[in-house]
Amino acid sequence: MTATAATAATAPPAPTRVAVVGGGQNCEHEVSLASAVAVADALDPASYDVVRLTIGPDGAWRVGDRALPLGEAVAVLQSCAAVLPVVHGPRGEDGTLAALCELAGVAYVGSGVAAGALAMDKWATKLVAQALGIATAPAVLLTAAGAATYAWTHPVVVKPVAAGSSHGVSMVREAAQLPDALEAALALDDRVLVEDVVIGREVDVAVLGTADGGRLVPPALEVVVDGWFDHEAKYGGGADFRIPAPLEDVERKALEEAALAVYDALGCAGVARVDFFVTPDGPVLNEVNTMPGFTAQSQVPKMFAAAGLSYAELLDRLVRDVLPR
Ligand SMILES: Nc1ncnc2c1ncn2[C@@H]1O[C@H](COP(=O)(O)OP(=O)(O)O)[C@@H](O)[C@H]1O
Ligand SMILES: [Mg+2]
Repeated sequence: MTATAATAATAPPAPTRVAVVGGGQNCEHEVSLASAVAVADALDPASYDVVRLTIGPDGAWRVGDRALPLGEAVAVLQSCAAVLPVVHGPRGEDGTLAALCELAGVAYVGSGVAAGALAMDKWATKLVAQALGIATAPAVLLTAAGAATYAWTHPVVVKPVAAGSSHGVSMVREAAQLPDALEAALALDDRVLVEDVVIGREVDVAVLGTADGGRLVPPALEVVVDGWFDHEAKYGGGADFRIPAPLEDVERKALEEAALAVYDALGCAGVARVDFFVTPDGPVLNEVNTMPGFTAQSQVPKMFAAAGLSYAELLDRLVRDVLPR
């Protein structure tokens, strides 16, 4: 055996080139940047050659510090074996980035166009959940035109149909608070939901669909907040995550079944976080996140860590599952 042949036989395979896209054009821009940096840093350099792309609040793409016209950004995506679209919210998680990858013919991690769009739309998600017999908070859908006709009768939660990180979400305990709440929600979306207040514990369930059609559900997580799970509680360190969420067996089963049913009905792929309220009458679905917060400290990575899958292993699995075989 020649020296060259020996080297070739033992040389590790070249790292797989993957793109991590962060940022985005919505109120969750900063949260997405944090998720994307954490994801890019956690991908093992022995296995992955990571290209870090960002989308600015103005929609401009960059690779590192270099501005990229969209056409060049697409060419960079096409130079990769897979894309990790770590952009939360509208023009990212709502299927837009999935659509770009589909048109560019490049594999990507996570849900496709339809699932992303449906899950981003809290009204559409409710309709799907109702069809499955899964409870959601009773709600009315309002637009700016209809908002003036809404008659407040009891405490409600007002929220944009499509937003995230609690932006534009307010509790309205008295009629006088309604106009400001509607204005805050309508600033982020043309449609808002006015929901009944659900009294219950907040429990998140992660679902990971695997390439062979399997489903992994790690232990559920309870979000314990002193007060309201607003933006400050989410990112100011005021929320306490309990894993596994203390649940009766029957509650845990009901949550897992509901999470799996809604994941499959929406047609999700990769990982999704399905958020519930646990009430004495059973689980009430709040929302589905197809690109949930993804730093190592975020709910989903913590739930998988509790199941024995480290952050780096979870990412590796997500990427390997979409690589062309
Ligand atoms: N109908 C509701 N009843 C009680 N609390 C709610 C309701 N809707 C939302 N919340 C609270 O507001 C938080 C943010 O609302 P959510 O719909 O999850 O928006 P986002 O997509 O911004 O996370 C929830 O985590 C929960 O604490
Ligand atoms: Mg939420």
